[in-house]
Amino acid sequence: MKIISTIRELQENLNTCKKENKTIGFVPTMGALHQGHIELVKRCVAENDTCVVSIFVNPTQFNDKNDLLKYPRTLDADCELLKQAGCTYVFAPPAEEMYPEPDTRQFDFGLLEKVMEGAFRPGHFNGVAQIVSKLFDAVKPGKAYFGEKDFQQLAIIREMTRRMNYRIEIIPCPIVRESDGLAMSSRNTRLNNKERQEAVLISKTLFESRKLKDRIPVEKLKEWVIETINKSPELKVEYFDIVDGNTLQPISSWEDSSFKVGCVAVFCGEVRLIDNVQYD
Ligand code: PAF
Repeated sequence: MKIISTIRELQENLNTCKKENKTIGFVPTMGALHQGHIELVKRCVAENDTCVVSIFVNPTQFNDKNDLLKYPRTLDADCELLKQAGCTYVFAPPAEEMYPEPDTRQFDFGLLEKVMEGAFRPGHFNGVAQIVSKLFDAVKPGKAYFGEKDFQQLAIIREMTRRMNYRIEIIPCPIVRESDGLAMSSRNTRLNNKERQEAVLISKTLFESRKLKDRIPVEKLKEWVIETINKSPELKVEYFDIVDGNTLQPISSWEDSSFKVGCVAVFCGEVRLIDNVQYD
C-alpha cells in the first residue's frame, strides 16, 4: 500500500494502472476510520483491481468551525487499517493541494438540498460537491463507494455525478452498526460514557418506529419518534423526517411513496449524530 499526498503522484500511479487495463475503485473518507468505512474498502477491493481511499477532512463542508476543529484525525491508525483491508493507494493530501485557491463554485441541487441536512447545515452539500468532484477528477474511478448512513449525501452525489456526466458508478453500502444498534460514525469517539449509553436510543427508536408504522399516520409517528428520543436528557432531536427515498421530499401519508425513509439528526451532548431507517 502506497501513501500519496499530491494529485500529480496519484495520477502518475493510476495512469500506470489504467495502461494495464486495471479497474479503479474509490472510497472517499475524512479518516478516523471505523468498521463502516472498512466495509466500503473491502467491497471496493473485492470489486476492483485497484482500490484508492482518500483521507481528507474537507474544510468547505463544515458549517460549524468547532466541529471542524474537533473532527478526529488518526492518520497512522487509519493507514494500518487500510493496509489490512487490502487498499492499494491512500491519498491523504494537505489542504493546499485540494484548495490551492478558494473554490468559488456554487452547486444547485434544487429540492434535494432544501431539506434535512441541507436545511440545517447551510453550505454543507456545496462543500461536499466541491471536494468530491475534485477527488473524482483526480482519481477518475470506475466505481465509487458511499455509506447509506449519509443518506442525503448519497442522493446529492448521485445527482452531481449525473449532472457533471461523470462515468462513475455510485455504489451505496448499508449502514454498519455497533452491536447495540448505534450507527457507526467517526463522531462516536467524541461521546462520553453517559452519552454513548444514551445514544443507542436513536437507533432503538427508529427500529421501534418501523413496528408502529402500520398503526400510526406519518405525522403522529414523526411526533412519537421525536418525543421518545427527546426523553433522554442527553439527546436533542434536530429533525426527524419521513421522506421519499428518491426525491427526499417529506411524505404526509404512507401511500405517498413506495420508498419511504425516516431520517434523523440528534445532538448527543455537543456531538451531532445522524441515522436513518427504511419503512416497507
Ligand atoms: O462522507 C464523508 O466522509 C465526506 O462527506 C466525504 C464524502 C468524504 C467528502 O468529504
